[in-house]
Amino acid sequence: MVKICCIGAGYVGGPTMAVIALKCPEIEVAVVDISVSRITAWNSERLPIYEPGLDDVVKPCRGKNLFFSTDVEKHVSEADIVFVSVNTPTKTQGLGAGKAADLTYWESAARMIADVSKSDKIVVEKSTVPVKTAEAIEKILTHNSKGINFQILSNPEFLAEGTAIQDLFNPDRVLIGGRETPEGAKAIQTLKDVYAHWVPLERILCANLWSAELSKLAANAFLAQRISSVNAMSALCEATGADVSQVSHSIGTDSRIGPKFLNASVGFGGSCFQKDILNLVYICECNGLPEVANYWKQVIKVNDYQKSRFVNRVVSSMFNTVSGKKIAILGFAFKKDTGDTRETPAIDVCKGLLGDKARLSIYDPQVTEDQIRRDLSMKKFDWDHPVHLQPNSPTAIKQVSVVWDSYEAVKDAHGICILTEWDEFKKLDYEKIYQNMQKPAFVFDGRNIVNADKLRQIGFIVYSIGKPL
Ligand code: NAD
Ligand code: UGA
Repeated sequence: MVKICCIGAGYVGGPTMAVIALKCPEIEVAVVDISVSRITAWNSERLPIYEPGLDDVVKPCRGKNLFFSTDVEKHVSEADIVFVSVNTPTKTQGLGAGKAADLTYWESAARMIADVSKSDKIVVEKSTVPVKTAEAIEKILTHNSKGINFQILSNPEFLAEGTAIQDLFNPDRVLIGGRETPEGAKAIQTLKDVYAHWVPLERILCANLWSAELSKLAANAFLAQRISSVNAMSALCEATGADVSQVSHSIGTDSRIGPKFLNASVGFGGSCFQKDILNLVYICECNGLPEVANYWKQVIKVNDYQKSRFVNRVVSSMFNTVSGKKIAILGFAFKKDTGDTRETPAIDVCKGLLGDKARLSIYDPQVTEDQIRRDLSMKKFDWDHPVHLQPNSPTAIKQVSVVWDSYEAVKDAHGICILTEWDEFKKLDYEKIYQNMQKPAFVFDGRNIVNADKLRQIGFIVYSIGKPL
C-alpha cells in the first residue's frame, strides 16, 4: 500500500489530498502542518477554509484513509510519496525583496524530510516555486540523506479557489515533471498511477522538471495578463463610449482567443497572480532578460492602475471628496465563493478611500471582522509573514465598521462599492436600498454584476467598469 504525506494543510494541500483520499481508497493520506489551529479545524465540523463541496469530500474519508495531524515527522518518515505544499510568499527583506519567492518554508520542510527519512521517497513540489528550485531541493536532500534515495518531481497545482473541488475532480490537465533518467521515469509513473484513479491518461502530461516548474508560473502569468489586457481596454472603453462587455464578447468568440477570463473588474486579487508574476520578473532579471521582465511587470502595473482608477472615480464622482462620507463596501474576498482575502483588490480600494477620510461600512458573507481589520492594517506582502505583522493602525480601525448584512452596510450611505461578485448582491432590493441612502446615491460596480439601467431608473448614479456612464 502506497502511503502519502502532504506537508502544508492550506488551500492547496487540504483539498488536493482530500480528493486523492476519496478517489484512491487503498491509499493512506496524511496531511500535516505546523499550525495547530489549522489542523484542529481540519479535524472539526467547521473546516478552516470555505470551499463549495469540500465537506462532502473530507468528511467521508476523514479517519478512514485521510488524516490531519501536527505530527509532521512521524507521517513524513512513514510515507512513500511526500508532497510539499507550503506557502511560498514574496520576500519582504534582503536580496530580491518585493519580487523573489521566499523559500524559507520550503527549505525547512526539505531539511526536515532529509532528517527524518529512513526509506527512499518521492518528494513532490506541489507549491509554486521558481524554476530550478528542484535542483536546490535535490542538493539539500542528497547532502543530508544518509544513503537514502530521493526522487524530486514537480507537480504544480492549477486549481482555482471557489471551484477547487470541481477543478480537482475534472482537471484540464495534471502536469508531472521529473528527471529524464530511469529512476526519474519510475517516480513519474508512480505519481501518474495515483492520478490515473480518476484522471484520463491523455490529460496527465509529463515533462522535464524545469518545464513543469516554469509552466506553472507561465500559466498564472498568461491568465493574469488576459485580465490586465481587458482591464486596460476598459479604461479606453470609458473614454470612448465603447462597452467592455461587448468588446469582450466580440473578441472572445474568436476561437483563437476564447471567451474565458475576459471579465473586466476592479482588478485581480488572490494569493498567487501577483506573487508568481513578480517571481517570474525576478527570474528574468536574474537571467539577464530585462525586456522580458518589463513585459510581465506591466501586467501588475495595469492591475495597480485599475485599482487606483476605481478609487479616483469614486472620489471624483462624489464631488472630489469622500471625507466623512459613509461608503458601503459590498464584498471583501478576492472573488466569490471563497473567504480568502489574500491580495484582494478590496484592500487597496478601502485603503485608498480611507486615505481620503471616508467612513467605510464593510460586508462580506464569508470574511470575518478580524480578518478585514488585520488586512487593512497590514503592510504590502506582510500577510504571509506572521512575524512582520504590524499592530493595527488606530485610524484604519476608527473609520471602519464591519457589519453582517448588506442592508445594514448601505443604510445612510452616500455610495456603494461592489468589490466581490457574490450572487446575493445581484438579488438585493435596490429600491429599498435607495430609499435608505443619502442623495444623490452612488453605485460603483467593480464587478459589473448589477443592471445599471434598472438602477438608474430607480435614481442611482451608477458607474460600471468599462461602460458608458
Ligand atoms: P497556505 O498558506 O494556505 O498553506 C500553506 C500551509 O503550509 C500553512 O498552513 C503553513 O502553516 C504550512 N507550513 C509552512 N511551513 C511548514 C512546514 N515547514 N511544515 C509544515 N507545514 C508548514 O498556502 P496555499 O494557498 O495552500 O498555497 C501553497 C502553495 O500552493 C503556494 O506555493 C501557492 O503558490 C500554491 N498554489 C496555491 C493555489 C491557491 O489557490 N491557493 C493554487 C495553486 C497553487
Ligand atoms: C488562479 C488560477 O486561476 C489557478 O489556475 C491557479 O492555480 C491559482 O491562481 C494559483 O496558482 O493560486 P485563483 O486566484 O484562485 O486561481 O482564482 P481566479 O479565478 O484565477 O481569479 C483570480 C482573480 O482574478 C480574482 O480576483 C478574480 O476576480 C479575477 N478575475 C478573474 C477577473 O478580474 N476577471 C476574470 O475574467 C477572471
